Amino acid sequence: MTGNNLYEELGGKPTFEALVDYFYAQVLLDFELKPFFENIDMKRLRDHQVQFLAAIAGGPAKREVDMAKAHKGRGINEAAFNRVAGHLVKAMEHFKVPEHAKSQLLDAVLGYKDQVIQDGGK
Ligand code: HEM
Repeated sequence: MTGNNLYEELGGKPTFEALVDYFYAQVLLDFELKPFFENIDMKRLRDHQVQFLAAIAGGPAKREVDMAKAHKGRGINEAAFNRVAGHLVKAMEHFKVPEHAKSQLLDAVLGYKDQVIQDGGK
């Protein structure tokens, strides 16, 4: 385990897979969020999300993600963003991810806010 490598500290890929599976299960049960994912290949998105979160935790980065492009034109507003971020926090709490890791991952994710709602929710 390296000093600041949350990926290793949290247990690597299996942890991120479990987190992301729990996260999307909750997101898809949320009636305010469900419509955003209606025509989406969730298996593909799940794999991309596992890789994305693993990479921001210091794990292997397998692909470049253009977050603005992925979210553009989807009508994502601040309320939807906050709900999604909230589900991520709840997923981390469910697995009792240690506080320092939780806040570091959340900060990193919140840093993408302008890219996710970059079209002002239109
Ligand atoms: C909270 C921060 C968020 C993070 C870290 C995040 C992360 C990601 C990532 C990594 C992808 C995959 C991009 C790719 O395939 O290259 C993605 C795609 C997607 N995201 Fe987000 N996202 C966030 C918020 C949201 C919100 C708020 C919504 C809608 C309410 C949303 C809806 C989607 C949809 C529908 C896709 C699929 C795009 C596609 O398959 O073409 N995301 N997101």
